[in-house]
Amino acid sequence: MEIIILPTPDDVARTAADAIEEQVRRGPSVLGLATGSTPLGTYQELIRRHQEDGLSFAAAQAFLLDEYVGLHAAHPQSYHSFIRKEFTESVDFGDGTVHGLDGLAGDPAAEAARYEARIAAAGGVDIQVLGIGTDGHVGFNEPMSSLASRTRIKTLTRQTRQDNARFFAALEDVPDHVLTQGLGTIREARHLLLLAMGEAKAEAVAAAVEGPVAAVCPASALQLHPHVSVLVDEAAASRLAHRGYYQDTFGRKPAWQGL
Ligand code: F6R
Repeated sequence: MEIIILPTPDDVARTAADAIEEQVRRGPSVLGLATGSTPLGTYQELIRRHQEDGLSFAAAQAFLLDEYVGLHAAHPQSYHSFIRKEFTESVDFGDGTVHGLDGLAGDPAAEAARYEARIAAAGGVDIQVLGIGTDGHVGFNEPMSSLASRTRIKTLTRQTRQDNARFFAALEDVPDHVLTQGLGTIREARHLLLLAMGEAKAEAVAAAVEGPVAAVCPASALQLHPHVSVLVDEAAASRLAHRGYYQDTFGRKPAWQGL
């Protein structure tokens, strides 16, 4: 894991956008996209680069991490709608190249298997954007998720439903269930970009990065991945015991190395 502590959320967004741009400019790419507040700055920066610098997503495909069960893709709070509104409708992905899970699927297990097959058919995910929940979830793999889990239905914790209630009219409107890529699925992406900003994420970041690999903190499973970039602002890094070490090594990193 490479832990990169940046001064502000804008720096996190720019650095994440740099890594995604580098991947996209390399050739046809498969992007893994998170939703929620964390990647919004990154998506805005990518939109800006599309509009001002000609960064094109025409040869890219994208897969969402998760979706609420019971919400139609057109529902304003679905992650299909979210990613369209916040990112993909403002750039030039081709028709049918932004994939998500069907929250209305009558057979969620079959939908999960279909999604895994689509990711595999696309050749796997090149770069996966991840946020982290205050309880340490990635995707919607809540605590005690198997570290080897595949795409499946999960029940959200009370804490996650409360955290996400800000997107809905009322807490009762937040669905109980989601379809999410599993930790085993996420770990097959070739490069993971875990982003976190703000003091509220500091404890989860410290547990994920410096704690033991344990299902109680699902994001700790990323320690088993060979290529993870953890991009955090000062506030999200505030509980890390080895901050000085991360800053020192990043400061002396050879410029040619990239993320
Ligand atoms: C969203 C997702 C979640 C969020 C996490 C943090 O697709 O998979 O794991 O990344 O809940 O949410 P925010 O960014 O809203 O704090």
